[in-house]
Amino acid sequence: NPLVITIDGPSGSGKGTVSQRIAQTLGLQLLDSGALYRLVALVAVRTNTSLDDAPALAAIALNLDISFQPTDSGVQARLAGEDVSLAIRAEAIGLAASQVAAIQPVRDALLARQRAFAVEPGLVADGRDMGTAVFPNAQIKIYLTASAEERANRRYNQLKAKGESVSLPRLLEDIQARDARDMNRQVSPLKPAEDAVIIDSSLMGIDEVQDAILAIVDK
Ligand code: CDP
Repeated sequence: NPLVITIDGPSGSGKGTVSQRIAQTLGLQLLDSGALYRLVALVAVRTNTSLDDAPALAAIALNLDISFQPTDSGVQARLAGEDVSLAIRAEAIGLAASQVAAIQPVRDALLARQRAFAVEPGLVADGRDMGTAVFPNAQIKIYLTASAEERANRRYNQLKAKGESVSLPRLLEDIQARDARDMNRQVSPLKPAEDAVIIDSSLMGIDEVQDAILAIVDK
């Protein structure tokens, strides 16, 4: 069985960056499962598919023609050959992604595709339900979290660095709304797996988080 490290947690906990770093350090594959939900959302929006048409959305999820290409600036997401890395990061697509992610047939349709990432020498799987639903037998499960205030702060600094004008209270509201949706939904609500190690990164830098996870892997 290839090694599987799952890293789950709420929006803005830093799991994307940390997952990428752990995969690179250990030479493992990387699964950004959020990107899959974002890709489903992008195709739905582009084809004017209603975000509550479960069968149509499940068909989109099943038939996604995608590939992930590692580049110097991170992993590039391609949809039928087109680089959609930027398009799937749009705020509106994130919102639509959280809507399609609440539909069980969409999640079911993505299950086999996600599990196919677990190949030798191993996988770092980043998401919400990696340790609970997709890889319940993963050898190492991490639940990475941080206070909503801290996560809003980080997002604020990221956007400011990109020259975008944003309001901190508005970002905090968005994060709290996203948390509520992810944690309270009927389908695969966000929660730590029973056997997950919980890391609260509110007072930790990214290097510290990386070291903490590598220490767990080394044990
Ligand atoms: O960047 P952010 O953390 O906000 O989102 P993401 O990780 O790219 O995921 C986008 C949306 O997909 C989230 O709001 C989740 O609702 C959903 N998602 C999920 O349900 N299950 C996963 N394994 C990954 C993402």
